[in-house]
Amino acid sequence: MQVHQNISLRQYNTFGIDVKARLFADFSSAEKLQELLAYVQQFSPNSQRMILGGGSNLLFTKDVDGLVLKNEIMGFEQQKEDYEFVYLRAGAGENWNGFVQYCVQQGWGGVENLSLIPGNVGASPMQNIGAYGVEIKDVFEELEAYHLHDKTIVKFANKDCAFGYRESVFKQQYKNQFVILSVTYKLRKQPVFHTSYGAINQELEQMGVKELSVAAVSQAVINIRSSKLPDPKVIGNAGSFFKNPQITKAKFQNLQSQFPAIVGYPLENGDVKLAAGWLIEQCGWKGYRKGDAGCHAKQALVLVNYANATGKEIFDLSEEILQSVYAKFGVKLEKEVNIF
Ligand code: EPU
Repeated sequence: MQVHQNISLRQYNTFGIDVKARLFADFSSAEKLQELLAYVQQFSPNSQRMILGGGSNLLFTKDVDGLVLKNEIMGFEQQKEDYEFVYLRAGAGENWNGFVQYCVQQGWGGVENLSLIPGNVGASPMQNIGAYGVEIKDVFEELEAYHLHDKTIVKFANKDCAFGYRESVFKQQYKNQFVILSVTYKLRKQPVFHTSYGAINQELEQMGVKELSVAAVSQAVINIRSSKLPDPKVIGNAGSFFKNPQITKAKFQNLQSQFPAIVGYPLENGDVKLAAGWLIEQCGWKGYRKGDAGCHAKQALVLVNYANATGKEIFDLSEEILQSVYAKFGVKLEKEVNIF
């Protein structure tokens, strides 16, 4: 067991924010996690604890005056199989896209639309990651998590997670209470493709794909994402900074009469989901840069760190954006990224 002191967290968050952790350690199993927690309890009982996965949905605005625990639980294990599905358990520390590509290689369907999303397996149920018409809740079977207070391992089935749009119990009532250890996904042996969303069909056509396959859909998603979302290894970012806001149909119609080009998608409950990227672009932020903090030039919903922006600078920019969108459209944006 190795506990490091005063280390930079820059390489552990995709925004590339240079803050420090007073204590830092990683763990590769539930047992190792327990050992670490017991050790810290003994020597630094009042230390704050923070569990870190891929750090891809997180904005650090200050140092962590406590212990950062990096989840490094690895491995893929086929649990069972039936006529339709393969049930695959993945360690929470596995890279998400690595997991997707493993499934793609086996020809198993379900996660190909979620290709190239940054972050780790453990974060996928945390915020019910989604893209191109698919969300984790559609492929989630169960997860195992360690309860920090009770020191027990608890299983969560799909219904226990209360999945919503970029939401789950782990972001709400159980925030900071559980460490996700592994996630089991239910993958289709005979894939069912979701290609109607936006640019996927168009991209498949351009690629000259005649027969659909999980590999082809995955590649199409990779091409689309790479064309407009910045690679965190090159430009620091955490994907969409805000959620797409949901408003009533009446409010949408009212906005549409003032802004005929407004982008909205009807929801099952009658409300309308607005494209926050469009709202932000209309306020003139797309491509804006102040110091090293900016609004991405190809996707206004993504805030970026060009090199040495502080978390506070990115946060302040997000507040300015939020206020201007509210002033122009009367719509309150909600942050998708967790702020520390
Ligand atoms: N748009 C603009 N200007 C912009 C950006 C977007 O006008 O600068 C408009 C366009 O009309 C576009 C529409 O917004 O057609 C939707 O844009 P896009 O397809 O890029 O998707 P999004 O709604 O901005 C959401 C997710 C992404 C996910 C994509 C694809 C949220 C908060 N974001 O973005 O998820 O990859 O759909 O499914 O729901 C993430 O959560 O980090 C993320 C990247």
